[in-house]
Amino acid sequence: MKKIIVAVDGYSSCGKSTMAKELARETGYIYVDTGAMYRAVSLFCIRKNLLTSDAIDEAGVEEQLNKMHLEFKLNTDGKADMYLNGENVESLIRTLEVANGASRISTLGFVRRELVRQQQLMGIQKGIVMDGRDIGTVVFPQAELKIFLTASPEIRAQRRMDEMIAKGETVNYEDVLANVKERDYRDVNRAESPLRKADDAIEIDNSHLTPTEQQAILRTLFAEKTLLY
Ligand code: DC
Repeated sequence: MKKIIVAVDGYSSCGKSTMAKELARETGYIYVDTGAMYRAVSLFCIRKNLLTSDAIDEAGVEEQLNKMHLEFKLNTDGKADMYLNGENVESLIRTLEVANGASRISTLGFVRRELVRQQQLMGIQKGIVMDGRDIGTVVFPQAELKIFLTASPEIRAQRRMDEMIAKGETVNYEDVLANVKERDYRDVNRAESPLRKADDAIEIDNSHLTPTEQQAILRTLFAEKTLLY
């Protein structure tokens, strides 16, 4: 059976990575979380003071871009962790501060062009499930299967809050909802590669789907596509 490229795009906290990871596990495909790459760039820039709560030193980021070596490496339980210049930053990039920084840094065209270039190299052999915001529109417009995942902001905020509470964090629903909406606004309204559904993407609203139901839909779509190619 020929290998294909699966592009999974959608808003933040929609469950894209859970869906993409599970499909990759079932099919033996490689999974790539492109959000982790933007988050690693954000972490680097925060550490170097190029990205603060009120400003981005764009010239500085551009100058330092070739000093950020990003890599996914498999850890002992088979999951791919993000490494930044040889350091495992997987848990460091999951904070709200880094996420907000990633949302801002991902508006810069030169950052996007470099990360898109690296992502396209990862897909050369196909057999890949990649999730992000611009995978079906910019990174792999030729992807054989494109999914556009959505869920209401309220449901996504609730899911995010549940995750944070499970980690022992104290959070307020209104703050989380405001943050979800703010990141949606930036994703959809940025000049460079804004989030939008590719014309040939299949939209799945998972607001009222269980993970099992969602995975069954995806499995059927994948089977249909791999029979075609
Ligand atoms: O999916 P995520 O929350 O880990 O992504 C972090 C940020 O990076 C998010 O604000 C949007 C941005 N991003 C992007 O612009 N393009 C991608 N392909 C992936 C993520």
